[in-house]
Amino acid sequence: MPTVTDQHKRPLRDLRLSVTDRCNFRCVYCMPKEVFGAKFHFLPKHDLLTFDELTRTVRIFSQLGVKKVRITGGEPLLRQDLDVLIRQLSEVPGIEDIAMTTNGYFLDRRRAMLLRQAGLKRVTISLDALTDEVFKAVNDVGVPVGKILSAIDAAIFAGLGPVKVNMVVKRDVNDQQIIPMARHFRHSGVVLRFIEYMDVGNTNGWRLDDVVPASEILAILQQEWPLEPLAPNHPGEVARRFRYQDGGGEIGIIASVTQPFCHHCSRIRLSPEGRLYTCLFGSEGFDLRHLLREERWDDAQIENALQLLWQRRTDQYSLLRSQATSSAPKVEMSHIGG
Ligand code: GTP
Ligand code: 5AD
Ligand code: SF4
Ligand code: SF4
Repeated sequence: MPTVTDQHKRPLRDLRLSVTDRCNFRCVYCMPKEVFGAKFHFLPKHDLLTFDELTRTVRIFSQLGVKKVRITGGEPLLRQDLDVLIRQLSEVPGIEDIAMTTNGYFLDRRRAMLLRQAGLKRVTISLDALTDEVFKAVNDVGVPVGKILSAIDAAIFAGLGPVKVNMVVKRDVNDQQIIPMARHFRHSGVVLRFIEYMDVGNTNGWRLDDVVPASEILAILQQEWPLEPLAPNHPGEVARRFRYQDGGGEIGIIASVTQPFCHHCSRIRLSPEGRLYTCLFGSEGFDLRHLLREERWDDAQIENALQLLWQRRTDQYSLLRSQATSSAPKVEMSHIGG
């Protein structure tokens, strides 16, 4: 099967499925309460793609070269019976890796085992601080750190690893937590990843001054523990990998603002209501659900449409980022996942 490539010769490898637009957290950099309050209209259930529609879509994408599926949200564990979906996806030929990004709130040992048995391979859990004071100020719904640390333990227990932890670093909010977080996860086998705060969506009030650049994060860490770079696990990996020279394990830095990685971006994203985004910073998306539900296209027609969508793709938002692009209309990250 010939590989489908876009206008910059990038293959399509990685599909990210957002299974719900809802989340029980209100992280200040993602779903600020002022916008996502009681009056906010989330999608009604009938607008969401069903498990069968999702599985069919994944099957067609696998024909076009997709090998990795990541389940995201919102908070994906809010979607009922997620293990059923994962089992369906794990039976799709050609899908080698199924991972999930979660805030961990609903992940206990029982749920983690259920997901693992259904075919989930890895989880990434978001945690932005190690003290309750800072973490609660970020999640904005009063969730304590201990709750998420037990989710991380549950994921390790279930073998959903190597478990990764995502920490979005925002200046004067949690940058003081870089060292405590690193110290906590050294020697644990957990891969802690520091993420530069991004201008996704239009609601988080992003300013360049709030970004702590990767170079600064690295310098802070190096003062405490010398690090050395590691080769990427696969071409196009978003995190730059490093290892502690004293054997304390591995960390990652995701520098989407100061060191964009669009050159190798092989990701496509599907929103909960079935719109496809060829870039995290897209605005409208492509209405796949209409073709699935109303037009009732067959697999070959859908495959053809998806192939054309990818072949036309020119996206490289992070390489072209400027004040003007930053204020352009964009889909929210809580809607299509990270
Ligand atoms: P693996 O390498 O498979 O473990 O996954 P990953 O590193 O893609 O995992 P994850 O979903 O946790 O991505 C980490 C973070 O990187 C996301 O939450 C985003 O903040 C950022 N990110 C991932 N993909 C993109 C992308 O295509 N563009 C940009 N700008 N940021 C991205
Ligand atoms: N910038 C960088 N990362 C973000 N995430 C959510 N919003 C942002 C942002 N504005 C992260 C979450 C989670 C992943 C899905 O994306 O913390 O780890
Ligand atoms: Fe926070 Fe993730 Fe929920 Fe956004 S989707 S509010 S980053 S937990
Ligand atoms: Fe891919 Fe868009 Fe992110 Fe660049 S900004 S890496 S094109 S999703």
